[in-house]
Amino acid sequence: MTFPLPPNATIGLVGGGQLGRMSAMAAARLGYRCHILTREVDSPAAQVAHAVTISDYADPVSLHAFAAAVDVISFEFENVSAEGLALLDALKPVRPAPAVLGISQDRVAEKTFLNNAGVATAPWLPVGSLAELHAAAARLGLPSVLKTTRLGYDGKGQRTLRCQADLSDAWAALDPKPLILEGFVDFACEISVVIARGADGAMSAFDTVENRHRAHILDVTLAPARIAEGVAEAAQSITRRVAAALDLVGLLAVEMFVDPRGQVLVNEIAPRAHNSGHWTLDACPASQFELHIRAIAGLPLPPAVRHSDAVMKNLVGPEGVALWPAILATPGLIPHLYGKTDARPGRKMGHVTRLFPKGALPGEFGVEAALHLASPA
Ligand SMILES: Nc1ncnc2c1ncn2[C@@H]1O[C@H](COP(=O)(O)OP(=O)(O)O)[C@@H](O)[C@H]1O
Ligand SMILES: [Mg+2]
Repeated sequence: MTFPLPPNATIGLVGGGQLGRMSAMAAARLGYRCHILTREVDSPAAQVAHAVTISDYADPVSLHAFAAAVDVISFEFENVSAEGLALLDALKPVRPAPAVLGISQDRVAEKTFLNNAGVATAPWLPVGSLAELHAAAARLGLPSVLKTTRLGYDGKGQRTLRCQADLSDAWAALDPKPLILEGFVDFACEISVVIARGADGAMSAFDTVENRHRAHILDVTLAPARIAEGVAEAAQSITRRVAAALDLVGLLAVEMFVDPRGQVLVNEIAPRAHNSGHWTLDACPASQFELHIRAIAGLPLPPAVRHSDAVMKNLVGPEGVALWPAILATPGLIPHLYGKTDARPGRKMGHVTRLFPKGALPGEFGVEAALHLASPA
């Protein structure tokens, strides 16, 4: 098979969650089929896909069968072993390349890569032992944030250290080792940019958006971010620089802090669709999911323009699901549910978007009210 992939080609997606689900829906609209590789039975992605292989991400027999069934391989879930990635890469085109995933899977590799590319991050130090943690805390000061280098998500695998006594507790609690200590960024806000890059180097980036977290989980995204134009542009140029330095083919999200002086620091990168890009489904002619599929299929990348401003709110756990009837009954709210049967606390069950005319995003205290979600009906 050669690129661009013709209609009815099969895209292999590793991971069965909501990102894979929305990518598979975008792929279907472009006339492609998706084959999902996931450990989970009845996953959100498999519910809307052409085919599914249910297996561990490391089982060579399953990886062979999956690769044989598809024309290109991409990801909604990044934590595939290096051996698994190497095997897939030997069998079919893998986009983004395994080296890109290797960087984003490991916070030390990620920050080393970013700093070498001239991109600023919070100060950080690798931490391999409790003694190293004490030394690192002495250099970076407190508060600081101790994280696992691998497998963290939604605030899992990290602790904020506020006093000396926290050090040994956090060291004992965090797993797997090794760890990384980051200076605490007293950020004015958190922002992100999602960018697509094709094999020819063409790039399309969505507008810089603002993200608010609740209990370490993304709660609300405001598109566009309500920040100074120069700061939004700095985020765009950092994102372009990172995508080019990675030689990315596919989609990349860059999470950033704006510090109190307006300086932009990269927090982390994810070479896949991102929760802070879900608003693009409703506010843009081509969403992050469509751009992901276009980039890996070798199709032209349209500009990532928005026709509306947007607020996106995540529906998390039982509280999120409880809002569903009120959301369906409220004109103007655009509902998305992911097909998960078990609404465990902290689990992302769906999201809801409200659009506004460009320039009419509500002010600081208008967001929840605009969503009509402050008190469920
Ligand atoms: N160095 C830091 N300083 C201040 N806040 C931080 C720092 N690192 C992380 N956080 C907060 O924790 C959240 C989750 O951390 P992140 O590194 O993005 O991990 P995850 O993989 O869980 O998304 C961030 O969005 C931010 O709100
Ligand atoms: Mg994050």
